[in-house]
Amino acid sequence: MAAFRYHHASESARTMNQSWRIRGIIGAAAFFLLAAGCHKQHLHAASMGAPPVSGIPVGPVPGSLHNTWPMPANPYQGNAAALMQGRQLFVQFNCSGCHGGHGGGGMGPSLRRSYFRYGHSSAHIYSSISEGRGKGMPSWGTKVPRNDIWKLVLYIKSLRTPREPDPPLMPGQPQMVPAR
Ligand code: HEC
Repeated sequence: MAAFRYHHASESARTMNQSWRIRGIIGAAAFFLLAAGCHKQHLHAASMGAPPVSGIPVGPVPGSLHNTWPMPANPYQGNAAALMQGRQLFVQFNCSGCHGGHGGGGMGPSLRRSYFRYGHSSAHIYSSISEGRGKGMPSWGTKVPRNDIWKLVLYIKSLRTPREPDPPLMPGQPQMVPAR
């Protein structure tokens, strides 16, 4: 009986041992799987980067001036009220603080010149405003609603044209001189 008990006890100890060993193995496997999963996810996130705000590629596409992506049109094209609002937004958001009262340039480049470093199409200008640009242009995409960005684009595209709302009084004003 005693022997049986002993046997029984050692038997159960062995099963206990085994069960712990199995649990240990399962635990280790789970840990490695998890770690591998995290690592993979981490790599994935790193290769993806943060999701774009506007869906438009940032900056000029290297190597080519021709876009391979569809260029969205300004939904406010030809909308006079939106153009006026664009002018107001330009002042309200203090774009004028860096780009000059009429976009003629200051700490930021002139927006009244024909050359736009990051492209002059509506989509390019939208992208510049939404994503920001490397040399000191903040990104507005998370702060300014899409519609307001399109109104700003409309205003910027109207500069130096007869459609420009509230234009500088004289063509010779400092605002007309490109900043750099
Ligand atoms: C803190 C200063 C600052 C403010 C505020 C600012 N900008 Fe800029 N912006 C810059 C600078 C500097 C650049 C040039 C960036 C570069 O060359 O990489 C720039 C570039 C741009 C460009 C691209 C110009 C090009 O040549 O392609 C556009 C368009 C633009 N800004 C529009 C705006 C609008 C609209 C606002 C307001 C919502 C605004 N910016 C507010 C400093 C500013």
